[in-house]
Amino acid sequence: KDASMLSKPPMGWNSWNSYGCHTSKLTETTIHQVAEVLVSTGLRDIGYRYVNLDDCWGAVHGARNKSAPLQGDPVRFPSGMKALGDYLHERGMLYGIYSDCGTRTCQGYAGSMGSEALDVKTFADWGVDYLKLDGCWASTKDMKALYTHWSELLRGVREERGGRGIVFSCSWPAYAIDPQKPEHFNFTYVSQICDLWRIYGDISGHWSSVMAIADWWAEHQDVLVPIAGPDSFNDPDMLEVGNGLTKEEGQTQMAIWSILAAPLILGHDPLTMTSDTLEVVSNPEVVAVDQDPAVDQGRRVQSYSHNGTRTYDVWVRRLAGGDVAVALVNVGSETLAVSQLRWSEIGLTPGDSYRARDLWRRIDIGHFNETIPSDSIPGIPPHGAFFIRLIPTEPPTS
Ligand code: DGJ
Repeated sequence: KDASMLSKPPMGWNSWNSYGCHTSKLTETTIHQVAEVLVSTGLRDIGYRYVNLDDCWGAVHGARNKSAPLQGDPVRFPSGMKALGDYLHERGMLYGIYSDCGTRTCQGYAGSMGSEALDVKTFADWGVDYLKLDGCWASTKDMKALYTHWSELLRGVREERGGRGIVFSCSWPAYAIDPQKPEHFNFTYVSQICDLWRIYGDISGHWSSVMAIADWWAEHQDVLVPIAGPDSFNDPDMLEVGNGLTKEEGQTQMAIWSILAAPLILGHDPLTMTSDTLEVVSNPEVVAVDQDPAVDQGRRVQSYSHNGTRTYDVWVRRLAGGDVAVALVNVGSETLAVSQLRWSEIGLTPGDSYRARDLWRRIDIGHFNETIPSDSIPGIPPHGAFFIRLIPTEPPTS
C-alpha cells in the first residue's frame, strides 16, 4: 500500500460532526482541550489517537494563490499548524488534517487543486499523520487522476519518513458512485491507492441516518466485504455516539460499526461528554471487535419482520481464532423479546459449542451448542443492540 501501512481501522476524533464550520469552536485552544480530554479520560490509551481537523481550519476563504502554502487561520491558530501537530505528538496523539482535491473545500475554503505537491510538502512539514481529502469543487471524472496523483505524493512522504507516512482517507467514491449500482465502481483500484474511503452520504446525529447507512451497507455487502482487509477500510462515516443519539442508539452504532470493521472516529464534543458516552465508546470488548486483526468485514445475515413491520436485524462478523461477534439490533420502537438465537441463523454449525459473552453488560451468559434460548437474551430496548462475542470451547471431557 502506498501511503501508510495501517493494519487496523483508524481510531480517533474528528471536528466535523460536533463543531462543523463554527469557527468559534475550531480553534487551537479548543483542539488542545479536546486532546487533553482524550488523554485524561483514557480514550487515547484505548486507541483513539488521531485528532483530525475537518473543514474550515484554513486562513483563506475562497480562491487562493496557488503557489503560496496553506496556512491555518492566524486568529484561531495563532501558534501555527505545525505547533498544533507538535502539541498532539507530545501527548502521544496523532495529527489529522483535511483538504479538498477541488479548487475549494465544501465550505468554500481554499482547496488544493493545482497545488498538490506544495500542499503535501506543507502537511509533511507540519508532521501530519492523516489526510482526509474531500471532493467538492472537482469533477468526478477527474477524480481518478487527482486521487492517484495524491497517493503518489503521499508515497513520497512515506519514503522520506522511512516508515509510516500519512494515512489517506479518500472521499472519491462518495462523490463518484451511483448509490444504486456501486458494483460499477472500481473499488479494487481505490483500495490500492487509499487506506480508507467514504462511500455514502454524510452521517448526522439521528437514528434514521445511522440506519440508512447500515441498510445501504447491508444491501451492498457483496460488493463491499471483499474489498476490506488490513490497510483497506470501507468508511461508513464517523460516530454520532453522544452527538444526538440516545445511549442505546449509540451502542447500536458502535456494534454495527465494529462488525463492519469501520474506522472509529468519534464525532461528539469531548468537552461536554457525558459518562454514558464515555462508557459506550470506551468499552474495550466492543473496540476489540472493531480492531480484530483479521479485518474480516461482517454482514447483516437476517432482517426480520412481523406483520409487515421490521422488527430486528442480525449482524455477524468472524473474528480471529474462530470467535464470532453477533449483534441483534432492535429496529422497532418497543422493547423486544427475542425468542431464541439459533446457530443456523448465523452460519454456525449446530453442535459446535461456544461460550457467549454479553459485550455491553460485560458478563458471560453461558455455554451453548445450538441455540441461545430466550431466557438468556435480555429484552432489547428500542433501537438498542444485544451484542455478543462467541468463543469456541473444547467439548467437555468427562
Ligand atoms: C463533506 C464530507 O463528507 C463531510 O464529512 C465533511 O468533511 C464536510 N464535507 C465538510 O465540509
